[in-house]
Amino acid sequence: MTGKSALITGVTGQDGAYLSQLLLGKGYRVHGLLARRSTDTLWRLRELGIERDVNLIDGDLNDLSSLIRAMEVSRADEVYNLGAQSFVGTSWQQPIVTAQIDGVGALNVLEAVRIVNAKAHFYQASTSEMFGLIQAEKQSETTPFYPRSPYGVAKLMAHWATVNYRESFGMHASSGILFNHESPLRGIEFVTRKVTDAVARIKRGKQSELRLGNIDAKRDWGFAGDYVEAMWLMTQQQVGGDFVVATGTTTTVRRMCEIAFEHVGLKVEDYLVIDPEFYRPAEVDVLLGDPAKANTVLGWTPKTSLEQLIGMMVDADLRRQS
Ligand code: NAP
Ligand code: GDD
Repeated sequence: MTGKSALITGVTGQDGAYLSQLLLGKGYRVHGLLARRSTDTLWRLRELGIERDVNLIDGDLNDLSSLIRAMEVSRADEVYNLGAQSFVGTSWQQPIVTAQIDGVGALNVLEAVRIVNAKAHFYQASTSEMFGLIQAEKQSETTPFYPRSPYGVAKLMAHWATVNYRESFGMHASSGILFNHESPLRGIEFVTRKVTDAVARIKRGKQSELRLGNIDAKRDWGFAGDYVEAMWLMTQQQVGGDFVVATGTTTTVRRMCEIAFEHVGLKVEDYLVIDPEFYRPAEVDVLLGDPAKANTVLGWTPKTSLEQLIGMMVDADLRRQS
């Protein structure tokens, strides 16, 4: 048991919930930044049974004073910046708010850490979206970036701000370049969860078709529960660094759909409708990560196959639809 304190922005999101669970299990005091919303955003913490164990602190990534207060109240040894407008599709509709939250918001957190406790270890939730139009078949920490969405552009700013604070102020700042990771707690707008939710509804007779965009896109999908362990391992190192976290396997959206439908004995071709509404102005056609550095330096390896992951998600959605 560590007795350490952690502050998590984005604590109500998919990764925030799993990371809270992991850190609580290690004996951390977990503080989470809670942005003011009119709806209930605590359902993920509730599903994991940890809603009462996380100390929620009101604040917003675009309000530096609230972040300074959160640092003071939490007395955090480790700060995980997971908060973001994280849906790529929306970033074309709301490019400026995406830049403010995902780019400037990360800078605000770095500033709050630098001002209140520059010795705290900082983790930035960077993304394989920064590789965008990929410049190498397998993307590693040394692959050049080429973002293809306003989201990817904003995240690239946050990534370089993290590197810059490490180099400028000697801060223990790490950038985790995580490839797509999913779970039963995934937001419904992301393609895996949209599919597993649809499979459950179709199986229960509540939906008759599934409308998708580009099913030829390929992603390197892993399980969020595995990936939050890599985040924690980064903050435990002697110095901060940049790490790709991925499975090293890529799969088409089409094949992922087949896995989901086959899990309940159905055929995807009987329900799938291609709808151009879900195409993006610029697509990231393929992502495939090289997690060799995370393997050797962090000792991290993914534990969950895509079949296990999608099966877990379909089963959870079947329970929700029963
Ligand atoms: P998520 O489920 O969309 O969660 C995003 C979180 O950010 C939510 O808690 C949300 O709060 C919070 N947030 C949004 N705007 C905020 C603001 N202005 N101030 C404070 N908090 C705000 O995302 P996720 O899948 O857990 O991903 C976690 C992080 O990793 C994100 O930064 C994402 O961009 C990045 N990432 C994700 C993946 C992936 O495949 N999941 C891969 C690479 C990187 P509300 O609940 O109140 O909206
Ligand atoms: N969401 C969605 N909905 N995606 C679709 C659909 C659809 O109906 N049809 C096809 N797709 C394709 C998208 O065009 C994309 O190529 C792929 O499915 C995955 O889309 P998402 O699940 O929305 O994820 P993403 O790859 O754009 O972004 C996620 O992963 C990033 C890491 O690479 C998000 O979690 C980002 O926050 C994260 O940084």
